Amino acid sequence: MADATVMEQIVSLCKRRGFVYPASEIYGGINGFWDYGPLGVQLKNNIRDWWWRSMVECPPIGPDGHPIDMVGIDTAIIQHPKTWVASGHVGGFSDPMVDCRESKQRYRADHLWVRKMQSDGKTWFFATAASGQAEAEAAFTEFFAQKKIPHRLRDGVHIRVWQALQLLTSDSPDVQHVPFMSLSVEDRDKTIGPDATKPGTLTEPRQFNLMLATKIGAVDPIEAHLRPETAQGIFLNFKNVLDTTRVKVPFGVAQIGKSFRNEVTPRNFIFRSREFEQMEMEWFCPPDDSAKWYEFWKAQRMAWWRSLGIAAEKLRFRDHTPDELSFYSKMTVDIEYQYPFTAPDFGELEGIAHRGEYDLTQHAKHSGLRLDYFDQELQLKLKEQGVPDEQVKARSRYVPNVIEPASGLTRAVLVLLCEAYTPDPSRPSQLYMKFKPRFAPVKLGIFPLVNKDGMPETAEKLYLDLRKDYVCEYDPKQAIGKRYARMDEIGTPYCVTIDGQTAQDQTVTMRHRDDCKQERIALDKVRSFLVDHLDAESRLSAGV
Ligand code: GAP
Repeated sequence: MADATVMEQIVSLCKRRGFVYPASEIYGGINGFWDYGPLGVQLKNNIRDWWWRSMVECPPIGPDGHPIDMVGIDTAIIQHPKTWVASGHVGGFSDPMVDCRESKQRYRADHLWVRKMQSDGKTWFFATAASGQAEAEAAFTEFFAQKKIPHRLRDGVHIRVWQALQLLTSDSPDVQHVPFMSLSVEDRDKTIGPDATKPGTLTEPRQFNLMLATKIGAVDPIEAHLRPETAQGIFLNFKNVLDTTRVKVPFGVAQIGKSFRNEVTPRNFIFRSREFEQMEMEWFCPPDDSAKWYEFWKAQRMAWWRSLGIAAEKLRFRDHTPDELSFYSKMTVDIEYQYPFTAPDFGELEGIAHRGEYDLTQHAKHSGLRLDYFDQELQLKLKEQGVPDEQVKARSRYVPNVIEPASGLTRAVLVLLCEAYTPDPSRPSQLYMKFKPRFAPVKLGIFPLVNKDGMPETAEKLYLDLRKDYVCEYDPKQAIGKRYARMDEIGTPYCVTIDGQTAQDQTVTMRHRDDCKQERIALDKVRSFLVDHLDAESRLSAGV
């Protein structure tokens, strides 16, 4: 199945079954915003809880074999306006934008790709919006494979030229796919925009700040911003956490919450939206140890993504090149996933950044407060090593460096939806969602085979007992096949059915989602079955 079709089917399933709905749908939707339905919020909460458990409640063992120090926090979405000046977001958090004077559309310049081709003794430049070369090539191949002249080109390009262009394939030596930003100003001016009919309608790239503004206060309201990352709330509380808890450098502060960015081109379902959730952790460490901790968190975070049941070959590391580093970063590595819409390429899932001392230094400068740290243990160690007093003094007071693993919770939801999606033509549902049980929104379906003969009563009793510990769904309606099909579509790992035999021998059928096999087990063993199959799997795995 083509990857574009897979994505369409996932989006349609999400709507049909209540994972994700377009926000404000009854008013026609609002671009870049999504609502999480009953199953979507459950899936999201399961991932969120697992991250919190793995990072805050039971964080990894450090390189020295001892548990590391980690605390959680939940800071305000709106902070003092000076925050974003100090952090650099007011000056530097922007994307280069290109406007089309003809179609009035706006594009992210770094997401415009150009197909450069020779025809009729002339070089043609066609632009398309795509996040990578593979996506751009696929879009162009589809576009140029069309037999009739696309409507948008009818007025702008001579039919003979179009026919000549159509003969060229992406294998042709004359065809190149290049980023719009890599073209000279003259060639950009010859480019036909993605929704335009003639060349020369795209503006030069301009910077566009991504923060969403709001006003606070009724009298003389001041302008504030919705946070574009959760990280800054952590930096603002660095001193509070040090002063009120028992942590010492190195330690981490973790936060999960909403962030907002006025994305120029929200796209690919919930991959890039304007309101989304992040799971971020700031690891404060001595500058001399920062390289060690960068490597530590790289390995830990990859192991965590693997613990979600994601296939190893669908995940990879990608180091940022110097020109794509964020304004605050010394080095960054992305953990990338092979999404259906990027395949065979990969797209970002999490960034692990070495932020150096940038943020604490900036907030110290703008607030006038000291945000450095006196490292008593280091002082003792240096003294023992016989380091001269002057050096001991200089080296044991420092501004901690920060290593930051920053991931998207809503992007994690997308990854698990893509990863779980399993077509299976042999089933009535034609597919099932193969969530790892820990993340499945519903763990157990409980069905009376028919709605009589005492079966509903037995099933409901079982449901009332198990729902105290597991998310169960009791469903007495429809043919049993339809109920199983629905559970397959929402990824419920197990279904228990109370049938005519239950009254005779106190047994039930237990259906396994992945192979559709059914086994008979004792009614009073259903709870221990769940303990074995769900709880054991839900315990922290040693690798994380
Ligand atoms: N504090 C660092 C920071 O925010 P980032 O790479 O801009 O770094 C971290 O964002 C993660 O947040 C990304 O890897 C991605 O998973 C998620 N994310 C960022 N922008 C997003 C958007 N518009 N929609 C959904 N998720 C987004």
